[in-house]
Amino acid sequence: MPGSDGAGTVAAVGAGVTVVREGDNVVICPSLWWGPDDVHPSSRFEILGGPSHGTYAQFVRVPAENVFAKPEHLTYDEAAAFPLAGLTAWRALITKARIKPGERVFIPGAGSGVATFLVQIARLAGARVFVTSGSAHKLEAAQGLGAEGGVLYTESDWPERIRALSGGGVEVAVDSVGSASFEACLQLLTPGGRMVTFGATTGVDTHLEIRQFYRRQLSLLGTTMGSLKEFGELLAVIQAGGIRPVTDRTFPLAEAAAAHRRMEQYEHFGKIVLTVA
Ligand SMILES: NC(=O)c1ccc[n+]([C@@H]2O[C@H](COP(=O)([O-])OP(=O)(O)OC[C@H]3O[C@@H](n4cnc5c(N)ncnc54)[C@H](OP(=O)(O)O)[C@@H]3O)[C@@H](O)[C@H]2O)c1
Repeated sequence: MPGSDGAGTVAAVGAGVTVVREGDNVVICPSLWWGPDDVHPSSRFEILGGPSHGTYAQFVRVPAENVFAKPEHLTYDEAAAFPLAGLTAWRALITKARIKPGERVFIPGAGSGVATFLVQIARLAGARVFVTSGSAHKLEAAQGLGAEGGVLYTESDWPERIRALSGGGVEVAVDSVGSASFEACLQLLTPGGRMVTFGATTGVDTHLEIRQFYRRQLSLLGTTMGSLKEFGELLAVIQAGGIRPVTDRTFPLAEAAAAHRRMEQYEHFGKIVLTVA
């Protein structure tokens, strides 16, 4: 059963569980068994929904430590939309890139679920954000979230355009697009720049010019998901109103296939939500 994200009401708790009670309104952190080390997860680490049964269901069983109070000001749709994508974006920018005020950040593929969090988190940290997208209306929507400028990745000279828009390149690039953008992200970095990578939507192969990489003092940082501590940090920022999950469309669970098709065809901006009656 797939599904890493979920928000709902606790139906039952196991023996000895005191941190959460039946009837609580909660949201799930999908990083299972991360363990005590914030640097990397334990050997038991799993993402909810793979291989364990996930949230495409009326009931899901998770460890009590992965259950957090739902921010009251969010709807259930919004609460279900932020855990995996928000956590990944938080760790990428805050823990890994250590983003600083005034830095320029490049985020390719602004319509992606994670990107809608990256843009907001970067802005919250005081950074200047530049994006690409496959459609003009998504570039506008990204600007609505705080991006300073954007370029269509369907234009072959998009890297030069991002370089010009940003005034010569960026200190940080956060890539999950993979083959179609990885090399350009590295080239857009200013000396000493950092690139964070956590996905490969368009493929896993790339070209790396090794001398350019070390002569320009670049750093490449891999990341996946995040710890329970980082989830708590993200939750506090959402609770304080610093970030609002961007929901695209809601489908009933029975129409999950149509929801997947919408995502596969890049028709969405932000997170698609499935509701379970
Ligand atoms: N390691 C982890 O912990 C982790 C966590 C979350 C996600 N991921 C991975 O990260 C990636 C993003 O996840 P997601 O859920 O945010 O994806 P998503 O919502 O499915 O979005 C994918 C996006 O890729 C963009 N894209 C496609 N072709 C592109 C190109 N040539 N240049 C630039 N952008 C392009 C599109 O952007 P537009 O809509 O703007 O055109 C599309 O919306 C996926 O590969 C996912 O598996 C990894």
